[in-house]
Order: sequence, then C-alpha cells, then structure tokens
Amino acid sequence: MEKIDEIIDGYVDEEGVLIQILLDIQHELNWIPKESIIEVSRRLQIPISQIYRVASFYTAMSLTPMGRHLVQVCLGTACHVRGAPKILNKVENTLKIKAGETTEDMMFTLRRVNCLGCCAMGPMIVVDKDYYGKMKTQDVGEILERYE
Ligand code: FES
Repeated sequence: MEKIDEIIDGYVDEEGVLIQILLDIQHELNWIPKESIIEVSRRLQIPISQIYRVASFYTAMSLTPMGRHLVQVCLGTACHVRGAPKILNKVENTLKIKAGETTEDMMFTLRRVNCLGCCAMGPMIVVDKDYYGKMKTQDVGEILERYE
C-alpha cells in the first residue's frame, strides 16, 4: 500500500490522472488489486465503480494477478484464415490453461486478441514484446520454452 501511496503522491494536484495512476500500479504490481482501487478512490475522491469501469476497459490493465509473461494469440480475420485457432489450441494445451487464464506457477497469462497490426505475417503470437509471425503449431513449445 505504501507503493500505491507513492504512485498517487507523484500526481498530486494534477487533473485527469486516473488512467496514468492505474497504469503505474499495473506496471509496478503486474495487476491492479482491489485494495489499490479502494485507496485510489479514497485519495482521488473518485467512485470505486468508475475506477473499475476504467480498469476493465483497457486491455493493458488486469484486475486479476497476471503471470510473469503475457502470451497473446491473434484470432483476427487474417490470422484466423491462416490457422490461428490451431495455434491457440496448441498454446492452451502446452500451457494447460484456456485463453484468459494464468498458469498455476504464475509464469504465463494467455489472452486472445483481435489484431496485432501485422496481418500479413499471420498467424501471429506475441510473448511480452516479442512478435512471432507465420506461426506453426510445432513452433509453439520451443518459443514458450525461451521464457522462464
Ligand atoms: S489479424 Fe492477426 S495481426 Fe491482424
């Protein structure tokens, strides 16, 4: 909670700082715990419901604990027609979780997304900030093994 107060103190007397504060909390803790939302609400005098609305809207923010690595599998149209559902299936089987879940060891969180902006390279996955294009199911295991 001390860290949350420090983050909020950094924006004192500034207007329209809610999103930035939430992003800072996300960056610091890798998710936005309920206690931090209550504290932000108290300090900024913003209703808790409004903070939840903002935090649930942005995909960069998570209201549940996230794994150390974020795996995003694109299921947009261009990737879909090139076999993205098979890639997602392979990632889910490899990590033993479904999209939207986090592995028990908190190593990976898996998300499906609608476009990663490089459709010609599909099917695409992104692990943290690393983009992998023209994915094949047989590449999935080897790529995920690079992250610990
Ligand atoms: S549809 Fe997958 S990157 Fe655009």
